[in-house]
Amino acid sequence: MTSPDMTRRELLQSATAAGGALAGGQLLPGVAPPAAAQGAGPAPAPLDIVLRVNGTEHRLTLDPRTTLLDALREHLHLTGSKKGCGLGQCGACTVLLDGKRVKACLSLAALVEGREITTIEGLAQGGELHPLQAAFIARDAFQCGYCTPGQIMAGVACIAEGHAGSAQEIRDWMSGNLCRCGAYDHIVAAIQDAAAATGPVREG
Ligand code: FES
Ligand code: FES
Repeated sequence: MTSPDMTRRELLQSATAAGGALAGGQLLPGVAPPAAAQGAGPAPAPLDIVLRVNGTEHRLTLDPRTTLLDALREHLHLTGSKKGCGLGQCGACTVLLDGKRVKACLSLAALVEGREITTIEGLAQGGELHPLQAAFIARDAFQCGYCTPGQIMAGVACIAEGHAGSAQEIRDWMSGNLCRCGAYDHIVAAIQDAAAATGPVREG
């Protein structure tokens, strides 16, 4: 549970005072992420929170400015989600929040308590790869692999949203995930394969 002594308003004030700006629980792109500002001024009181990640609850005591990405990587040692830009621009940190894709570098851990967080580590079931993971391998959809976890998580959401109807639609809806290696054609092909295998489920 988030500390009852700190209201949502106080949490937001704490984050914005640290150099971030928030919208809908996410830091706005183009502003300093909280990690970059944590050296400025005295640290706020830590918060006890429970994060539900890949079906398991984790109790953590965190600086309220901790991003979801840092909570996953630094505190839970789930390093599949990658830190690229830290500014919401590359998509390397993409995870699912209640099934919707979010950039974990722009989300505060304290604001996603009680939500279902899914990371790349939680996609495979019973030792079997998710169809999109298998398609990425079959289509050779990566080179260095740094962007791959984020691409796969965004791709899973893209299919679930019903935005995988054509190559161009996939390109449009995956435009928030950059690949410095330029593996885009193979990524699109892998998403098309997985969409054909699983069928889109349009939400909302
Ligand atoms: S690290 Fe989050 S968008 Fe680049
Ligand atoms: S595979 Fe290298 S950045 Fe995408």
